[in-house]
Amino acid sequence: MTGAPSPDTHSAGTVAPAREAAARTAAARAASADLPTGAEKTALVRSMFDAIAPRYDLVNRLMTFGLDVRWRKKSTRALGLPEGSRVLDLACGTGDFLKILRATGFRPLGMDLSWGMLAANRSGTPLAQADGTWLPLASGSIDGITCGYALRNFTELDKVFGELGRVVRPGGRISLLEVAEPDHGLLRTGDRIWFHRVVPVIGGLLSDGAAYRYLPKSTAYLPTTEQLRSMLMDAGFSAVNRRALSGGLSQLITATRRGQP
Ligand SMILES: C[S@@+](CC[C@H](N)C(=O)[O-])C[C@H]1O[C@@H](n2cnc3c(N)ncnc32)[C@H](O)[C@@H]1O
Repeated sequence: MTGAPSPDTHSAGTVAPAREAAARTAAARAASADLPTGAEKTALVRSMFDAIAPRYDLVNRLMTFGLDVRWRKKSTRALGLPEGSRVLDLACGTGDFLKILRATGFRPLGMDLSWGMLAANRSGTPLAQADGTWLPLASGSIDGITCGYALRNFTELDKVFGELGRVVRPGGRISLLEVAEPDHGLLRTGDRIWFHRVVPVIGGLLSDGAAYRYLPKSTAYLPTTEQLRSMLMDAGFSAVNRRALSGGLSQLITATRRGQP
């Protein structure tokens, strides 16, 4: 997903099948991993984050050895926007991204589906409860968007990307941070053991075991890199770029809203 493919070469004829293929792949993977879809998924995600909100930050730090803070800082820099830019942190959770965005000199606002996560949010920035499929913002009113570890939690990812394309002004930027699987054999094995075996135990001791068993499994919802690229281009973005972070433990996807700034 490197480089900046021209939107012109990405005709509607190739986009729709890519989006349909993404939806099919995600649905098939979710079914084989015995994961819910549709309204059932939304309800589960919402109640799960409501439940784990009080201890979310603590488990996150332990789970990533504090690397998540570094990854969010990198994602914020990757926006490449000037100070004072209006930046939405979608699926803001407890506000880790919002604090970094504010410290960087942006004017952040946060939105999340879960009232529990919003209640635990101590960022001091403006917040709203909203589903990513319908953002209560005017078209082209936002300079940039960050979104951390939420792509696999959205029920209708193509609709969310459509909303990103609508609210970000031409020339604006998005920075999407998500878990990934390292390419390197040893790191990959270690990551699997840690994420699928150890994290659920830590989550169970400190928070909610069922939630931390579900979270590693939920990576099955993620479309492939190429599918994500096609979906973002379809939503009005260009210069879609994917970067592996810390050997592929996380991935950062950035893109620029097409059109004249
Ligand atoms: C893994 S947490 C990440 C929180 C935060 N972004 C971070 O980096 O720590 C995923 C978040 O996505 C939110 N979320 C899930 N589905 C959503 C939706 N449809 N619209 C908005 N937020 C959603 C959850 O409530 C949760 O706060």
